[in-house]
Amino acid sequence: MSTVCCIKCVWIVKLFKAPLIQNIKELEEKQKELEDTQDLLKDNDPDLHDLAETESQACLAAIQDLKLKILSLLIPDEESDMSDMVLEITAGVGGQEAMLFTAEIFDMYQNFASFNGWGFEVLEVMSSELGGVRHATASISGPLSYKKLKFEAGVHRVQRVPKTEKQGRMHTSTMTVAVLPQPTEISFTINPKDLRIETKRASGAGGQHVNTTDSAVRLLHLPTGIVAECQQERSQIKNKEKAMTLLRAKLYSARLEEETSKRYNARKLQIGTRGRSEKIRTYNFSQDRITDHRIGKTIHDVHGFLQGEELLEEMIVSLQQFSEQESLMDILKDNDYN
Ligand SMILES: *[C@@H]1O[C@H](CO)[C@@H](O)[C@H](O)[C@H]1NC(C)=O
Ligand SMILES: *[C@@H]1O[C@H](CO)[C@@H](O)[C@H](O)[C@H]1NC(C)=O
Repeated sequence: MSTVCCIKCVWIVKLFKAPLIQNIKELEEKQKELEDTQDLLKDNDPDLHDLAETESQACLAAIQDLKLKILSLLIPDEESDMSDMVLEITAGVGGQEAMLFTAEIFDMYQNFASFNGWGFEVLEVMSSELGGVRHATASISGPLSYKKLKFEAGVHRVQRVPKTEKQGRMHTSTMTVAVLPQPTEISFTINPKDLRIETKRASGAGGQHVNTTDSAVRLLHLPTGIVAECQQERSQIKNKEKAMTLLRAKLYSARLEEETSKRYNARKLQIGTRGRSEKIRTYNFSQDRITDHRIGKTIHDVHGFLQGEELLEEMIVSLQQFSEQESLMDILKDNDYN
């Protein structure tokens, strides 16, 4: 037996954890069951034939489910997959219309958080005059929140006739989503010596408590130059807390990105948390569709999608499956010693 084979065996054995074996057994049983029902399909009795038809459909669905489960058990979690997260959204090209769209996307994720039973705390919202949002951040906490939402990062594009448009012309606008894993205070500490803290009077359209006290806080992390600001709250202490949450997520994310770029090849990153500057999805109102360009998937019913419930969930599940398949390809390639 060659050493190459031994290395492969060790690797395979390592992967065979109890739930994986359980699912593989179930898959084998289902496949056997499917063969049996397919024999019955040849029967001339129409009742028996119908029964076999129903049975085999159920088997096929179960087999598909089991395959996906096995696939996800084979993929190791990333360090950050279990983290909570910070969502950061920014209006892009398109003026007021882009800001209105950004507000709708912010609402969509807020609803998606409650749909999943996650916590959603607004860190900061900079509103526009017409009820849009220029920039906003929120802390989202709950099981798998980062793992699920990380694929939302990137440029989202909307095509529609804006409410503000008198001539009925179609506009194209964009907004950007960033999804940062949020480390716990214990797992990721910041040396206070590395921080410069500035306070000033709140200003701009966002602050509800504009220029009453020096409540706005700006944190500068000296070694990296990364900045986090907050002026959402009336109290300086609260603003500082929120700015710290944001800063910690930004620093952690920068560190992970550096590590990830060392570990993975470019293929994986097409859909990962990278590629923030790429257009990932189009919301086309006149065709009533949302298309995700990374996986070529289209879902109809834009209004339903923006509710942030089943339809968004459906898109995210497809992205996860696609990403798992990509990761598996990487693992298999990495372990190919031949
Ligand atoms: C706050 O600033 C605005 C203009 O920036 C000014 O008109 C207003 O008088 C100021 N209010 C207070 C309480 O200083
Ligand atoms: C969106 O729909 C309109 C109307 O059907 C169409 O003209 C436009 O090309 C579509 N946009 C994209 C990016 O497919």
